[in-house]
Amino acid sequence: MLTEIDHVAIAVHDLEAAIDYYRATYGVEPVHRERIEKDGVDEALIKVADSYIQLLTPFRDDSPLAKYMEKNGEGIHHVGYRVDNCDEVLEDVKAQGARVVDEHPRTGSRGTTVAFLHPKTAFGTLIELVEE
Ligand code: CO
Repeated sequence: MLTEIDHVAIAVHDLEAAIDYYRATYGVEPVHRERIEKDGVDEALIKVADSYIQLLTPFRDDSPLAKYMEKNGEGIHHVGYRVDNCDEVLEDVKAQGARVVDEHPRTGSRGTTVAFLHPKTAFGTLIELVEE
């Protein structure tokens, strides 16, 4: 079902400072930046082989990420697994009794199709299925 690690998402308070850190420390630049209105987040993607580091920061106080960071601070927020067919995998995991955040696939950044699975039934990790 899973074809690659699509991305590891890291929640940060200051996106520009995080980008500067990656530039200064590892000599890498974001290959993509996007404001995801629905989720209330700004992202910067840094490519590592065929995967990304997704730096995420909330741009409004009522975004789910802002609420998460109030409790948990900065750090790894979720892991994105690349799949060939998001809808199919989502239906499979639901049929196996997993809790989901998204009942149906939706549009993610870069025009991907995504669905989030709840950490409660995934050993404490928020998982995102990503179909390119
Ligand atoms: Co993500």
